[in-house]
Amino acid sequence: MIRVHFIAANGTEIATEAAAGQSLLDVGQAAGLPLEGTCEGQMACSTCHVIVAEDWFAKLSRASEDEEDMIDLAAGATRHSRLACQISLDDSLDGLVVHIPSEAHNMQGR
Ligand code: FES
Repeated sequence: MIRVHFIAANGTEIATEAAAGQSLLDVGQAAGLPLEGTCEGQMACSTCHVIVAEDWFAKLSRASEDEEDMIDLAAGATRHSRLACQISLDDSLDGLVVHIPSEAHNMQGR
């Protein structure tokens, strides 16, 4: 089991458990977090933007150029931003901490 801690925009911590191979987006959505994931992992929407805790950011495999381009368009992006749909969980990520950006609600284009 891989434990993932999400920190909601209001500071609430949500502890979840994931299986190896699951995407961070799936885990966050299953936990009821406001990660829209409109394009279902096609790197075309950035509504799955999360901010990875600094200690963990370096442990993730690097973002592709396409992912970085899409993050540039995400509201509230930081140096530790990633697209949750592009993060595949494995045992080395047990204990991962990610923050849900507070802008998540404002960027759904409705
Ligand atoms: S779900 Fe659209 S970029 Fe991740």
